[in-house]
Amino acid sequence: MKSGEKSRAMFKRAVESIPCGVNSNFRYWGDEETLVVKKAKGAYLWDQDDNKYVDYRLGFGPVILGHAYESVSEKIKEGLEIGNAFSMTHEYEILAAEKIRKLANVDLVRFANSGTEATMHAIRIARAFTGRDKVLKFEGAYHGFHDYTLWNCQPPVPGVGYRRSPVLIPHGSGIPQIISQLIMSIPFNDEELLEKKVKENWGDIACIIVEPLLGNCASTMPKPGYLELIRSLCDKYGIVMIFDEVKTGFRIAKGGAQEYFNIQADLVTYAKALANGFPLAAIAGKKEIMGEIGYQKIAHGGTYCANVVATAAACAVLDEIEAGALEKVDAHGKLLMEGFEKILKTLGVPGVVQGPPSMCGVLLTENENINEFRDWNDSDHGLYEDVIMTCIEKGVMPDVDSREPWFISASHSDADAAFTLGVFEEALKEVIG
Ligand SMILES: Cc1ncc(COP(=O)(O)O)c(C=O)c1O
Repeated sequence: MKSGEKSRAMFKRAVESIPCGVNSNFRYWGDEETLVVKKAKGAYLWDQDDNKYVDYRLGFGPVILGHAYESVSEKIKEGLEIGNAFSMTHEYEILAAEKIRKLANVDLVRFANSGTEATMHAIRIARAFTGRDKVLKFEGAYHGFHDYTLWNCQPPVPGVGYRRSPVLIPHGSGIPQIISQLIMSIPFNDEELLEKKVKENWGDIACIIVEPLLGNCASTMPKPGYLELIRSLCDKYGIVMIFDEVKTGFRIAKGGAQEYFNIQADLVTYAKALANGFPLAAIAGKKEIMGEIGYQKIAHGGTYCANVVATAAACAVLDEIEAGALEKVDAHGKLLMEGFEKILKTLGVPGVVQGPPSMCGVLLTENENINEFRDWNDSDHGLYEDVIMTCIEKGVMPDVDSREPWFISASHSDADAAFTLGVFEEALKEVIG
């Protein structure tokens, strides 16, 4: 794919001032391919050349209601009238925290500004609470850009080694090797390996941090009983269970993954859908742990934490979610998932469509049993990329990386689903010849 003339010119300008022309490495598609956005509204996005796309990236997930959503914009305007940063408590942050407690069944909430910050704080809280330093995470899971968990997020196979004793690989340069002494990573969904690791190391483990479903690995679901096993091991060995719900929170159910899987974690991190694309995150959880945050106890803070505009946005979003916005999201997602399955079957292309409807993953593979990152790695993601690049040329835009799910908003319509499935089928036919 080649971007249009105006996008290319604008991207050239961006490169003059911004490394690679993007402000997150994940946004770079190539010098000729990286699009520059003009605007977005509802389920649609327009590039600089006025090409229109049905957007299933939704900024990597946050835009749960739709771009420039009216009730959110209105609430933000109210917030702007108040002023934004006081380093003092104001009513919107109390309101937003109350709404989170009600929807997500958590005792206490502290706000942060990004998912990265939220997971970083959650890990510190767990370390302080347990007096232990090590963090257990899962291969293929991503918890943001801080050093503590930027390991084995997308490790090279076979470089990452034997699955029973994976080698720790940082996600790029600049992550101190010494941090590897504080982290353990194992493949997801392997009960035996999890029990072994925890039994051998529990005295050092502060927390197990888990994306309840691998939202950074094509929405790979937990096996029945797997999250329950993590819960029971954490209870038995005094380990803090952290659900990283940055992608799943206020998306896969009103109460996120805790409600969807009926498991209560000790700490939960939220961001993305919480504020429909405005920078707000939260660390929430049980009173016995969250209640230890405070002066001369556990450190947490930040100049912009709980600023008015972001918390006002969250109030509007959480009201829409409470009123049933996720029903529309799920209905659209189900149409897509059924459609993808039918198209793959009709065209004889082996594939798996998985995850919850609001963020489904599509893998082109003969393996029907997807459990972990290595299964995704074995899928034909090169072919998927070609299909998606063709979809984008035709006006449908999921992420080209098949680890990213198709994100749905409450603004996607049945007509969008029909158009999207038509484009997906055409693109697949063209690519497989
Ligand atoms: C599960 C998960 N945790 C944390 C993060 C980091 O969030 P942010 O990009 O807001 O820092 C992400 C981002 O995609 C995520 O998917």
